[in-house]
Order: sequence, then structure tokens, then C-alpha cells
Amino acid sequence: MTTKLVLKALTIVICLFVISCKHSDEHKYHTVVDKIEAETVTPENLTVTSETFNENIKTVKIEEDGFEFLIPERKSQITSFNCTECHTKPIDKLKQDQVGEKAAHWNIKLAHAGSEIMNCATCHTSNNMDNLHSLTNSEIDFNYSYKLCSQCHQKEFKDWKGGAHGKQLGGWAPPRLSNTCVNCHNPHKPAFEKRWPVRFNTQKVKERQ
Ligand code: HEC
Ligand code: HEC
Ligand code: HEC
Ligand code: HEC
Repeated sequence: MTTKLVLKALTIVICLFVISCKHSDEHKYHTVVDKIEAETVTPENLTVTSETFNENIKTVKIEEDGFEFLIPERKSQITSFNCTECHTKPIDKLKQDQVGEKAAHWNIKLAHAGSEIMNCATCHTSNNMDNLHSLTNSEIDFNYSYKLCSQCHQKEFKDWKGGAHGKQLGGWAPPRLSNTCVNCHNPHKPAFEKRWPVRFNTQKVKERQ
């Protein structure tokens, strides 16, 4: 009787031992410290990535003062690109042809800086419409239009590079994908309108009662 009991107990102990061995990979390491060291995630051995979140967005890579990140590609989003489909001659000529008809860009009303500081030619150049240009006339690709904005808005540009101004898309793991200035600000009317803070709708509550 007692031998039977002892045998039963022994089998249970052996079974438990076998199960516990199967379920832990402790045996891969000599000590717990070895395990912690081997399995700690550091920037060097990080294997998680945000690539799966970003794969539906066409992106361009940028490098600014040691910051490396992705921003959404723009050119394919601009309805009237390529501009040179129409801008094959100087604006004056285009305007002459257009007399009596609705202006081509009737929907664009500049409300940015005062008209003594800025007009269309501050950013667009009539002999190279498919690109923007800096204040000193160097070419800026439409995909990198933040370079245009940063000339006059250094503070926001610095914050944006570090990830403080703007919004990150996708996940937190690298590679970082951030919205670019024109994803949020319309370059022709960049300020956001003032809004009331969200208010509790007392009227609706009354109606429901
Ligand atoms: C469908 C034809 C067409 C396309 C595409 C087009 N434009 Fe124009 N654009 C015109 C015409 C025509 C004028 C002449 C003035 C007018 O009618 O408004 C003009 C005028 C302009 C002017 C001068 C406005 C002024 O009042 O002095 C700018 C700046 C301009 N276009 C920028 C662009 C840019 C940038 C693109 C591409 C992103 C573009 N256009 C694409 C037809 C076009
Ligand atoms: C502060 C710089 C700036 C000024 C000033 C400016 N633009 Fe633009 N414009 C841009 C940028 C940047 C884009 C590209 C925006 C984007 O990526 O969606 C653009 C886009 C456009 C487009 C293409 C829009 C579309 O969705 O098809 C047209 C057309 C255009 N501008 C015409 C004009 C005209 C006309 C004026 C003057 C009334 C003007 N712009 C003034 C910066 C400027
Ligand atoms: C040539 C200089 C210049 C360029 C280039 C320029 N801006 Fe501006 N921007 C100004 C000035 C001047 C004002 C009006 C003064 C102010 O409110 O800060 C202004 C106003 C603004 C405002 C409103 C600020 C407020 O107080 O509400 C925003 C947002 C803005 N710009 C964003 C942009 C973006 C985005 C671009 C690039 C597409 C851009 N700017 C390009 C000079 C510029
Ligand atoms: C994710 C959207 C987003 C992106 C990207 C973004 N901004 Fe803004 N920006 C905002 C919002 C929201 C405000 C606050 C508007 C307000 O308070 O009325 C703002 C405010 C501003 C102002 C006004 C600051 C002030 O003191 O009132 C400027 C200038 C500006 N942004 C420029 C830029 C420039 C330049 C870039 C690109 C380098 C950029 N922004 C990218 C959303 C964005």
C-alpha cells in the first residue's frame, strides 16, 4: 500500500518535472542574469519595426541635422501636377489666352503673409513651375516643401525635426514617419481658424429626458 503511494507520488513528481522543463527555456541559459542580458531589447538588437503600419503610404526619406525620418510623398497628391501640362509659356501669355474665361486657379486666394511680403512668385517660379523655389532662387522639389516653410518658420521647423510639432503616423518603433507641413497647413491659407473648446451639449440632454 505504502509502496504504491510512494510510486504514485514519484510519478507525479517526475511528470511535473518533465512538464516544467518543457515549458520553460531556462535551460538555454546558465543563470537568470545570462537570460536577462540575452533577452534585453536595446536599440542595437531591436527587431520590432513600424514598416507594416507604413506600407500603404508612399514616402520619401529625409535627413536634417542628424534626424533621419520619412514623410509622405506629395507630388502624386497634387491635383494639378504636372504644372507644365499648361505652364509651357510665361504667365502673361497664359493670362492673355485666358481673357474672358474663368481664371485657372480661381479657388486659390492667398491668405498667408501680407501682400507686400508674399505673392505667388515668392514660392512658385513661372519658368520652372514643376518645382518650388527658395528666397534665393534655388530649386525645391514639391516633395520637400518643408524646406520652403523652414526659411521663415525656424521655430516650428526645429520642433518638427525633433518630433514635437506635427504628428507621427504609424507606430512608435523606427522608422519614424511624420506628417509634413503641407499635410496639415494649406500653404495658401496656413492658419487654423479659432474654434470654441468642445462644450457639453446641454440642449441634447434636455431633449433626451
Ligand atoms: C489646367 C492648366 C493649368 C495647370 C495644370 C496649372 N496651371 Fe497654373 N495657371 C494656368 C493658367 C491658364 C494661368 C494664367 C492665369 C489664370 O488664368 O489664372 C495660371 C497661372 C498660374 C500662376 C500665376 C497666378 C497669378 O495670378 O499670377 C501660378 C503661380 C500658377 N499658375 C501655379 C501653378 C502651379 C504651381 C501648378 C502645378 C502645381 C499649376 N499652376 C498648374 C493654368 C494651369
Ligand atoms: C508660401 C509659399 C506659397 C505661395 C505664396 C503660393 N503657393 Fe502655391 N503651393 C505652395 C506649395 C508648398 C504647394 C504644394 C502643396 C502640397 O504639397 O499640397 C502649392 C501648390 C499649388 C498649386 C497646386 C494645388 C493643387 O492642389 O493642385 C497651385 C495651382 C498653386 N500652388 C498656385 C498658387 C498661386 C496661383 C499662388 C498665388 C495666388 C500661390 N500658389 C502661392 C506654396 C505656395
Ligand atoms: C517668405 C516667408 C514665409 C514662407 C516661405 C512661409 N511663411 Fe508662413 N508666414 C509668414 C509670415 C510673415 C506670416 C504671418 C505672420 C505670422 O502670423 O507669423 C506667416 C504665417 C503662417 C502661419 C500662421 C501663423 C499664425 O500665427 O497663425 C502658418 C501656420 C504658416 N505661416 C505656415 C507656413 C507653411 C506651412 C509654409 C510652407 C508651405 C510657410 N508658412 C511658408 C512667412 C512665410
Ligand atoms: C500634424 C499637423 C501639423 C504639422 C505636420 C505641422 N503643423 Fe504647424 N501647426 C499645427 C497646429 C494644430 C497648429 C496650432 C494652430 C493653432 O493653435 O491655432 C500649428 C501652428 C503652426 C504655426 C503657428 C504657430 C503659432 O505660434 O501660432 C506655424 C508658423 C506652423 N504651425 C508652421 C509649421 C511648419 C513650418 C511645419 C513643418 C515644418 C508645420 N507647421 C507642421 C499642425 C501641424
